[in-house]
Amino acid sequence: MRPLRGSRGRSVVVGTVTLCLAAGWALQTPGGVSLVVPQPNINATVAQNILLSVEYSCQGVATIEWKHVSSWGTTSIVEWRSGNYVNISTVYKDRVTTFENGSIQLRNVGMRDAGYYFVTVMEEHGTNAYGTIIVNVYEIIYEDLHFVAVLFAFLAAVSAILICFMWLCNKSLHLFQKKTTHKLTASTTEEIELETIEC
Ligand SMILES: *[C@@H]1O[C@H](CO)[C@@H](O)[C@H](O)[C@H]1NC(C)=O
Ligand SMILES: *[C@@H]1O[C@H](CO)[C@@H](O)[C@H](O)[C@H]1NC(C)=O
Ligand SMILES: *[C@@H]1O[C@H](CO)[C@@H](O)[C@H](O)[C@H]1NC(C)=O
Repeated sequence: MRPLRGSRGRSVVVGTVTLCLAAGWALQTPGGVSLVVPQPNINATVAQNILLSVEYSCQGVATIEWKHVSSWGTTSIVEWRSGNYVNISTVYKDRVTTFENGSIQLRNVGMRDAGYYFVTVMEEHGTNAYGTIIVNVYEIIYEDLHFVAVLFAFLAAVSAILICFMWLCNKSLHLFQKKTTHKLTASTTEEIELETIEC
């Protein structure tokens, strides 16, 4: 019984050590590509500029490729190798800017730009990393116009109230001024009377 228990304990220890080593090896794998997509879901309105933001890291030189997939099909947007070449497809020529960290900016989006954006980071002799960003594009819809109309009505009401208030202020100021001038004339006559008495 005893030797059996001892061997089992040893095997557990050996297993744990192996696991730790494996984990360490996985963390230190040289040449691995990693890709972070901080915002995998973007809501945009028509004519907006959007940043498809990613951040990749790898040891060697990487090639980055962006593709757009929607119900109209798959389109290659851009492919570039950092410090080497940038190949933007003609459809996107004037609308795309590439960044060092693998991100791209897409200007003046339309309804057709909605869909999935796939990014692939390819290392020269290594692994690939993939990322996806979903972009929703909304039209400036009636609800927004409704909101604008309500805002205008509200502003009009506020200005009307302000005008009334100013009118009232003006009126009361006039009344006040009249009263004070009355008082002033009264007090000056009193003073004059006092002076004459002193004399
Ligand atoms: C985009 O809109 C959807 C629903 O309209 C919402 O669930 C989601 O959180 C929004 N995403 C962002 C990044 O605002
Ligand atoms: C990538 O670079 C762009 C431009 O410098 C920056 O706006 C964006 O935040 C970066 N993305 C990430 C995930 O760091
Ligand atoms: C750029 O893209 C076009 C079409 O995808 C391709 O024919 C061409 O070979 C590419 N150029 C480079 C330098 O990769």
